[in-house]
Amino acid sequence: MHKIRPKTLFVGKKSIYLPTCQSTNDEAALLLRQQPVEEGTLIITDHQLAGRGQRGNAWQAQAGQNLTFSIVLKPTFLTATEQFRLSVAISLGLWAGLESILPGKLKIKWPNDLYFSDQKLGGILIENSLQGPRLEHAIVGIGLNVNQLDFKNPHAASLASLTHQTYDLEAVLVELLVKIEGSYLLLRNGHYNQLKMRYLRNLYRYQEKHLFCQNDTTFEGIIVGVSEEGKLAVQVNNDLKYFDLKEISHLI
Ligand code: BTN
Repeated sequence: MHKIRPKTLFVGKKSIYLPTCQSTNDEAALLLRQQPVEEGTLIITDHQLAGRGQRGNAWQAQAGQNLTFSIVLKPTFLTATEQFRLSVAISLGLWAGLESILPGKLKIKWPNDLYFSDQKLGGILIENSLQGPRLEHAIVGIGLNVNQLDFKNPHAASLASLTHQTYDLEAVLVELLVKIEGSYLLLRNGHYNQLKMRYLRNLYRYQEKHLFCQNDTTFEGIIVGVSEEGKLAVQVNNDLKYFDLKEISHLI
């Protein structure tokens, strides 16, 4: 993973490869504190010792088998209240990059996990920093299971476990970077509505009746949308309720 040559305008044009590190998101944050960083700079590693996921979870991935990387973006065109738009654009970019490899049942699980049927293939951890009311920079961390075949979690999968093929990590990365950049440029050029429509079209369990869990209470609901701030809109009986990430989980 030394020479990455993505066919992009700026995403991944500059890249830093670390054979091992604690977390590529932490490395990106360190870099931003130390020096000016060009938009699109990629930090990639073969092995994270302390990979971080959403909700304070750890992100574990076997060394050399998967993609673990972070991209530094500068979405200064977004206000703090519009942060979720970046999440939509990045998850759709990842979705589009994977759709060409794994067409069919690929879905985005709110807010930004990648699922194939009921199995998680990858996740995104975006860490934003603000300057006044606007975003200054965003560290977009992506973990994608590619060639790993054994998982502790029965709901985890990889491209290889799903297709019984082995993938060239660099080739997959290059495809993802192109699609992530395309999606980000759509956002930057003011096409959020188009992205949001696509996001909903590919949202896991959208408009289906399913079980959810909140504070150990199980209830049935239908996902009907996402709010501007990125809350999940669920119809529960005759009420429309909005949940943030810490308040709700799907029951599989
Ligand atoms: C999740 O599904 O909870 C998000 C997982 C994000 C993992 C990636 S791996 C590269 C980057 N560095 C981290 O420490 N986390 C993200």
